[in-house]
Amino acid sequence: MKKIEILYTEEQIRQRVKELGAQITKDYAGKDLVVVGVLKGSFVFMADLVRHIDVPLRCDFLRVSSYEKNKRTNSIRMDFDMTQPVNGQDVLLVEDIVDSGNTLRHLLKHMQAKQPKSIKVASLLYKELGLGNKEFVNYIGFETPNKFVLGYGLDDEGLYRSLPYVGFAKE
Ligand code: IMP
Ligand code: MG
Repeated sequence: MKKIEILYTEEQIRQRVKELGAQITKDYAGKDLVVVGVLKGSFVFMADLVRHIDVPLRCDFLRVSSYEKNKRTNSIRMDFDMTQPVNGQDVLLVEDIVDSGNTLRHLLKHMQAKQPKSIKVASLLYKELGLGNKEFVNYIGFETPNKFVLGYGLDDEGLYRSLPYVGFAKE
């Protein structure tokens, strides 16, 4: 295992996720919500986030892969899709990180074809200097430096997802 320099501690993440949950609760007051996690990276963030959202909600998941051995590739593969229809419903897509924005653009197109009533995006991390379109990300946990980060769901070749904090590998 590599030595990790911590960027966001467990406590900082806990606090920020709580704030995001409160904001989402306010924004969706009186509505039902479908929260859709993008696997695998979002599973930790989503598990914590939904427990801070106080409106009736359902959870679903889909899985896409956009990285081959950590190298950015333009092709995005849908490994599996959600199991419930979302037409006419308010949908919140949950991502671990938006970097180039490629995956998100692809996912938004995919979701819009399902004709939800509304679609918003929550991402734990947003990479500064990535090329992601920030206007498409409604709830951002932290704007991270342009480094390869891991922990709290994010991986490096499958490892480190279980770390309770977010950091990057020391040289
Ligand atoms: P994008 O398509 O370039 O926005 O990248 C989106 C996906 O790439 C994310 O959902 C992550 O799974 C992965 N990714 C991007 N940057 C990082 C990183 O710094 N660490 C780990 N995974 C990353
Ligand atoms: Mg991902």
